[in-house]
Amino acid sequence: MNAPFPPGPQFNVVETIARQFIGKPRISNLNDMMDLLKPYDGIMYYKVGPFHIYFLWDPELVHEAVVEQAPNFGKGFIVQRSFGRLMGNGLFTSDGDFWKRQRKLMQPVFHSKRIESYAQTMVEHTERMLAQWGDKPLEINDEMMKLTLSIVTKVLFNADVSSDNDRIGDAMHALVEGLMNQSSGIVKIPAWLPTPNNLKETRAINTLDTVIQRIIAQRRASGEDTGDLLSMLLMARDEDDSAMSDKQLRDESVTLFIAGHETTAVTLTWAWYLLSQHPEVEAKLRAELAQVLDERTPTVHDHLPYADMIIKETMRLYPPVPLIPRTVMNDTVVGGYRFVKNGGALFAAYAAHRNERYFPESERFSPERWDDDFEKRIPRYAYFPFGGGPRVCIGNQFALMEARLILATMAQRYRLSLTPGQTIEPMSFVSLRPKFGIQMQAHVHQNVPAIAE
Ligand code: HEM
Repeated sequence: MNAPFPPGPQFNVVETIARQFIGKPRISNLNDMMDLLKPYDGIMYYKVGPFHIYFLWDPELVHEAVVEQAPNFGKGFIVQRSFGRLMGNGLFTSDGDFWKRQRKLMQPVFHSKRIESYAQTMVEHTERMLAQWGDKPLEINDEMMKLTLSIVTKVLFNADVSSDNDRIGDAMHALVEGLMNQSSGIVKIPAWLPTPNNLKETRAINTLDTVIQRIIAQRRASGEDTGDLLSMLLMARDEDDSAMSDKQLRDESVTLFIAGHETTAVTLTWAWYLLSQHPEVEAKLRAELAQVLDERTPTVHDHLPYADMIIKETMRLYPPVPLIPRTVMNDTVVGGYRFVKNGGALFAAYAAHRNERYFPESERFSPERWDDDFEKRIPRYAYFPFGGGPRVCIGNQFALMEARLILATMAQRYRLSLTPGQTIEPMSFVSLRPKFGIQMQAHVHQNVPAIAE
């Protein structure tokens, strides 16, 4: 293959690995990453020992890779080595025909008509949370995580995990932190080594497994078909009429349990942070809610374009998955550049969304930029918070509807102000959670009706 490698810096392998072991990886946060990418135009490559790493953020190159060459950019070992222990061979981590079959099986749960039927649960759970708030300080990311977790477990598993909320929250925190530590390095510390991180990860996975196994056992015992995701997984049959194995059932459930709440919660967290810093945007949102809803709760049929623009703009500045990882599955050429089998391809949404060519004054939070069909006037892959091609997020419509309904329900009842004197910094790579949480003060904006338990 004669094509050249993409442009990029040269790193010393010994130094790079040594830095990881002393806890100072070369790219330890998103600012480091942006500094590294700055001299390049949409693609950057480097090699450390046998590892080839590609960063892509040019819309045409991203399109070519994730759509036109989708089979060459699978999940592969890069995704498996980070997420495999937790998610096994579930929808997020699997590849090939196996993935295709599972995706086809689960797709109906995410059809738009089906998703609409989840709207009322989303609003009810939000109101239940707000009814317990009152005027008080709170950590907004924690609140949003509990809320989106309760919603996804109700609509996809018809289960209630509120009594496990704290345990699950701690486990998720430990997992995201562990994944982040791994992802910022080149070398993966083997899972069997009893390092503090590995032990923490094992405990966290056991916690999630216990909760999921309980949900599955309860449904099996009841024998009920509630038409939700869990029923579909339990009823699924192969061509040879065999049921899904317990291990596969566990992997798919854990995948949906995690993918279905973490990212939406992160979006809402940053939306509240940004609103607290931009009173003019918040005022416009309230005006839209007053006009469209008056005082009633939102439904799926309400048209709330400004709320949607706030969510889009939040995910532009804070894409919940800032670097979307894939593996180069075969030697190939993209944009005239050479890609080597087993290389790591990172689709850098965080960098793409700050491209001044498409987003002038890119650091500015401006929901108005999405007005007048702006999205149709930029290349499809200038903005890709949900990834793309056949592996695009299966829950994207679910997430957008959920974020809109939660944002609207909350803004009708509360205003949130930022507690002064805290460090606010996004965690990098795996999930863009705020590293130290975000402390906010809730102010009742309108009386919250009592919700019957
Ligand atoms: C704002 C919220 C969300 C964001 C930003 C987000 C983002 C993503 C991204 C970037 C991917 C990888 C795409 C790729 O490799 O090209 C993904 C995949 C996935 N997401 Fe989401 N997601 C969100 C919400 C959800 C929700 C609510 C669910 C489920 C209820 C979900 C389930 C999944 C699953 C199962 C996959 C793997 C799909 C496959 O490979 O076939 N996500 N998501």
